[in-house]
Amino acid sequence: MEKKQERNEDDDFSESFLQTLEQQTNWDGSPMVKYRGSWYLKIFFRSVLSSHKHFKARDSDIILSTLPKSGTTWLKALAFSIVNRGTICCDIGQNPLLTCNPHTLVPFLVMFEENNPHEFDQPTDPRIFATHVPFKALADSIRESTCKIIYVCRNPLDQFISICHFLTENKLEKDHAGPLGLDESFDMFCEGTHPYGPFWEHMTGYWNAHLENPGKVLFIKYEDMQEDIVFNVKKIADFLGCPFSSEEEERGIVEEISKMCSFQSLKNVDKNGYSFNGLFKNNTFFRNGRVGDWTNYLTPAMAERMKKLVEIKFQGSPGLTFKI
Ligand code: A3P
Repeated sequence: MEKKQERNEDDDFSESFLQTLEQQTNWDGSPMVKYRGSWYLKIFFRSVLSSHKHFKARDSDIILSTLPKSGTTWLKALAFSIVNRGTICCDIGQNPLLTCNPHTLVPFLVMFEENNPHEFDQPTDPRIFATHVPFKALADSIRESTCKIIYVCRNPLDQFISICHFLTENKLEKDHAGPLGLDESFDMFCEGTHPYGPFWEHMTGYWNAHLENPGKVLFIKYEDMQEDIVFNVKKIADFLGCPFSSEEEERGIVEEISKMCSFQSLKNVDKNGYSFNGLFKNNTFFRNGRVGDWTNYLTPAMAERMKKLVEIKFQGSPGLTFKI
């Protein structure tokens, strides 16, 4: 049963407040707390609440939203390149993506600190931020302003396998023996016990918001990006109100951006470096980027379980489907 989790706006997100929340450990032993129906890693939770409370979206902001391991890094690279193609990326050879990991160019909202708001003064306009929080947990100013939200959604089976590899490579809990086995982790995933989960609530939250206001929320599938990235680069540019001109299309700018942001191009940039204050190795954001890699790890029975789960959980979200 969920514990009482009301708090006043003036609460300081103290340890005693955290103790009132339901607790769990993630598959790798990292502590998590449940807040208003969603799971958060404890190490990021205070910042999630802080950015929710203090971040003031501008109408021109762009918010990139994903569940972890759904193509966040790719989306950051694409949005950055599309938006800045006329300024810092006007010469494609000067694109900072040639030397920087996309995570250093597009910050997560969770890095927002009340006492350090200027960290968010990006030199470029519009500002671009990323987040993993569910739609319902976005700062009010994001939902109420005219800023745009792009959500990338990935087949949960591939997302699950990608998380398993990522947790094995990046040990958040140094003293922990290592992630749970595949069966136990999959059980927890299917119960919705994972950071920013349950995944179905995350996906349907953004899907329904997209259906309600398609001009505010763009919903793209990772698999569709893999199938036709040129089409989706144009779709993102149109959505952001900066469509490619016919002259740009003739010059091949759409293809150049698609190529620059491809798995092959990005995976070699600063590959020995680290992101998020040394928490994660850059190269672990690029494993193999395949659609359907889950078939190499999961049994048909597991896939069937997921198929049934998704059918039930997506019932109130017409049109949202995955090929499993
Ligand atoms: P895999 O582990 O299946 O390879 P995130 O950026 O949200 O952390 O997601 C990481 C996943 O996206 C990884 O999936 C990674 O390989 C894949 N990925 C990263 N960059 C990509 C790109 N440019 N194109 C396609 N997939 C990419």
